[in-house]
Amino acid sequence: MPHDVSLIALFAVAFVLASVFGYIATRLRLPPLVGYLVAGALMAKSIPGFEADTAMASQLAEIGVILLMFGVGLHFSLGALLAVRRIAIPGAVAQIGIATLLGAAMVMLWGWSLGAGLVLGLCLSVASTVVLVKALEERGAVATTNGRIAVGWLIVEDLAMVIVLVLLPALAEVLGGQVPGAAHGGGGDRGLVAELAITLVKVAAFAVLALLLGPRVMPWILRQVARTGSRELFTLAVLTLSVGIAFGAAALFDVSFALGAFFAGMVLNESDLSHKAAAQSLPLQDAFAVLFFVSVGMLFDPSIVVREPLLLLGVLWLILIGKSLVAAALVLAVGYPVSTAVTIAAALAQVGEFSFILAGLGIAYGLLPREGLSLIVAGSLVSIMLNPFAFWAAGWMIERVRARATLHERLEAGRRAPLAALEAELEAERQRAEAKAAKHRTLSPAELAERFPMFATLSAEQREVVMLYFRPRHARPGERIIHKGDAADAAYFLSSGEVEVELGRRRIKLRPGDVFGEMALISGQPRSANVTALDYCDLLALTTSDFREIMRRFPEVRGTLATLAAQRSAMNREEVDGPPGGPQDAAPST
Ligand code: CMP
Repeated sequence: MPHDVSLIALFAVAFVLASVFGYIATRLRLPPLVGYLVAGALMAKSIPGFEADTAMASQLAEIGVILLMFGVGLHFSLGALLAVRRIAIPGAVAQIGIATLLGAAMVMLWGWSLGAGLVLGLCLSVASTVVLVKALEERGAVATTNGRIAVGWLIVEDLAMVIVLVLLPALAEVLGGQVPGAAHGGGGDRGLVAELAITLVKVAAFAVLALLLGPRVMPWILRQVARTGSRELFTLAVLTLSVGIAFGAAALFDVSFALGAFFAGMVLNESDLSHKAAAQSLPLQDAFAVLFFVSVGMLFDPSIVVREPLLLLGVLWLILIGKSLVAAALVLAVGYPVSTAVTIAAALAQVGEFSFILAGLGIAYGLLPREGLSLIVAGSLVSIMLNPFAFWAAGWMIERVRARATLHERLEAGRRAPLAALEAELEAERQRAEAKAAKHRTLSPAELAERFPMFATLSAEQREVVMLYFRPRHARPGERIIHKGDAADAAYFLSSGEVEVELGRRRIKLRPGDVFGEMALISGQPRSANVTALDYCDLLALTTSDFREIMRRFPEVRGTLATLAAQRSAMNREEVDGPPGGPQDAAPST
């Protein structure tokens, strides 16, 4: 090749194979991700003249993780995350603990060291968020209560892994590994407690920064970009925010990419632009998530099946059955119904991205034999392929329980209370978020044209841009919105209620669909009249600079407003120069 095109080759081969095998998988009534995994496994070994760069592929996969977690965050409010904490935090922590010990005990029986056992156990105890989210999406279950518990559970796992990744170097020596560079007094000598404290402070600092600064800055940035009306810039801005924040979070605060991206999405969740952001990032999310599965497939070493069949079976048992049983038992123990227990169990019956990172680190610190990574990858590949069956089995069990009255009463109906309470809490949270969004919501583009005919000539996209300039404002009866003689700072579009313009002895009522406050903005003169609300009014305000921007960008609107202002000022002049003595309550002049 004339120059280095390895990245393009990787993309091309990955997409072509993933499309072909994804298609075949769907025709065989299997989920497409099975096809992507097969595509990856083939790519790594058997394409003549093509050498797959696994390191690059896993970086691309990481972009998939970032975009996907950003998307999950966009549908998850902080309130919803806090609502599921009572089950997610103890559940995830206990499940990681028990599953790790199970894993450690199992591999120590094979003669591996305690350190190797703990690392492998940890790797197998955490599930992949990408796989979970895809599974929930496929079943339309992301927003269900059980779906939210599962996502919350994995967020806790993610946080726990951030801490584990930091502690591993500090613990490596105690567990019998060696820390590269520790002989020179490297990073290992800060002590376990200090290391942990620093990590927790960093994670907390990131969370506080994201939650305090994020809601102010991120929607503002997106709003500015959306106002340009350029879809391409908007998509770019969404991408920049998700990847940029994920990277920044990892570089500055040692938080994982996934967690950083999730927070970025969650911060945007309550902004009125979150739906638009979700829609714009979806295609990229899908494409890169495909690369995630391909890269898992690429790491697969088929010889492990022949070399270590028993170990592999043990690993699979732990991922598919051991871990699920632990999770289900924990969920039942905290009083939740069996349907929640088996859903969480199915959600957790797989391993993915974090396990590879942790295993890589375990090998680097001399804790885990190389064999460990191959086992984890093989376990991951098989468990991801079998995950749809895990969900099918969960559904089957729910049905079985439902079919038996006493069992149903004891395991499901009699245990609805905590789930119902959580459901109510999530619903209240949803309503709160909706009410908050409604406060900021103005009109839909169609309503805008209906209420204010001057916008009817604009295209739907143009109207959407116009809407981004409006700030909703409300006025109470008797409230003076404009004072005569003041300098102009805004124009108002009246969407409901009535206002009165005071012109000497004459009063003019304006009704929904009318505009006021435009004259001073156009002429540069002080306000020509007092304007007072007659009842509860909903207004859409345009600041001076935004008003000018709209006038500049939309000549039709400028024409209508200029004509209106000229007519009104001519009318007022006439009044001063000696009016013919018209009626006191003239119709609005729009
Ligand atoms: P402005 O001068 O900025 O502030 C007072 C507003 O009252 C003015 O803009 C118009 O929007 C409105 N106004 C003034 N005169 C009339 C009129 N004759 N008919 C309707 N509205 C008017």
